[in-house]
Amino acid sequence: MRALVVDPSAPCGLRLGTAADPEPGPGQLLVQVSHASLNPGELGMLAGLPAGHVGGHDAAGIVVRPAADGTGPAAGTRVLAFGPGAWAELLAVSSTDVAPLPRGAALAEAAALPMAGMTVLRTLRAAGSVLGRRVLVTGASGAVGRYGVQLAARAGAHVVASVRDGAHGPALAALGAHEVVVGLTGLRRLAEPVDVVLETVGGPYLVAAWALLAPGATLQSIGWAGGEPAVFPPGSTFFPGTARTLSSFGDAAAVGADLGLLAGLLASGALSAQVGWRGSWERAEEAVAAVRERKVVGKAVVDITPPPPSPGPGA
Ligand SMILES: NC(=O)c1ccc[n+]([C@@H]2O[C@H](COP(=O)([O-])OP(=O)(O)OC[C@H]3O[C@@H](n4cnc5c(N)ncnc54)[C@H](OP(=O)(O)O)[C@@H]3O)[C@@H](O)[C@H]2O)c1
Repeated sequence: MRALVVDPSAPCGLRLGTAADPEPGPGQLLVQVSHASLNPGELGMLAGLPAGHVGGHDAAGIVVRPAADGTGPAAGTRVLAFGPGAWAELLAVSSTDVAPLPRGAALAEAAALPMAGMTVLRTLRAAGSVLGRRVLVTGASGAVGRYGVQLAARAGAHVVASVRDGAHGPALAALGAHEVVVGLTGLRRLAEPVDVVLETVGGPYLVAAWALLAPGATLQSIGWAGGEPAVFPPGSTFFPGTARTLSSFGDAAAVGADLGLLAGLLASGALSAQVGWRGSWERAEEAVAAVRERKVVGKAVVDITPPPPSPGPGA
């Protein structure tokens, strides 16, 4: 099969090449992938992977071989999937990590959802009910942030979106943000404390967000997009009274039901996939550069396009 494989000599660390077809285990099905998305965290890890490795985790396509143990969707079902090796024509994935895609939802948009969407769903859920509570989303202009704003608003929260560039404000308000604060200064000046933080920037944003927690509030540490260390002032983790909590996130096990929930929201129009870059995987180098340089507003989705027809005899 063709796949985006790790190539340390390629400018972006990836090239469109070939890899052995995956062989599904008993609880795995085989998906013919039509679209896949690129996550910045995955791109950041390419340097540590062996040449020829097939990367990616987010895919959408058609089931071409159902799981041998009878679990999961039947052949021919349109699905979105989460599993290693998604940047390829074929993906062997556990039947617990796929969900059927309802009619009315596009495969290209569904491919944007798995990793970022289930991260937001699970961190929000871990924080408990957000109905009527104040939820701060840092890095709100990013892929995770945009899903965070939408899903928190949908769950009944008062959503505060933190961005470094105020130009994103109107779009985030349209996605459900009730307030937009700009830069670290804006964040530090937030007048009222918050009950939940979906924190994706790290460094000084993590420190500033921590200082805003109400008694009993939780900060879900999702990412470190800013790449800076966090330096907490002495004493800043001591509060009298009910404890504040900082939670790590990394639970990506058995995400099928969550993918089903996201797919349903996408199909009904309640969730926008926010695809900001889309093109053939032959343009992967351009896509990777755009993600790394923060030029993509939302998600980058590659189309797994068929190979060009080979020239006929005598051509
Ligand atoms: N994608 C996933 O599924 C996923 C899942 C779990 C964890 N994570 C982690 O979560 C983080 C965000 O992921 P993502 O996919 O949302 O990334 P993304 O689309 O690249 O968004 C990054 C966000 O961080 C902001 N940002 C970056 N550097 C900043 C800085 N120095 N100061 C202030 N803001 C800064 C960006 O603001 P601008 O828009 O102004 O550039 C943007 O809002 C990453 O660390 C990622 O590894 C991602």
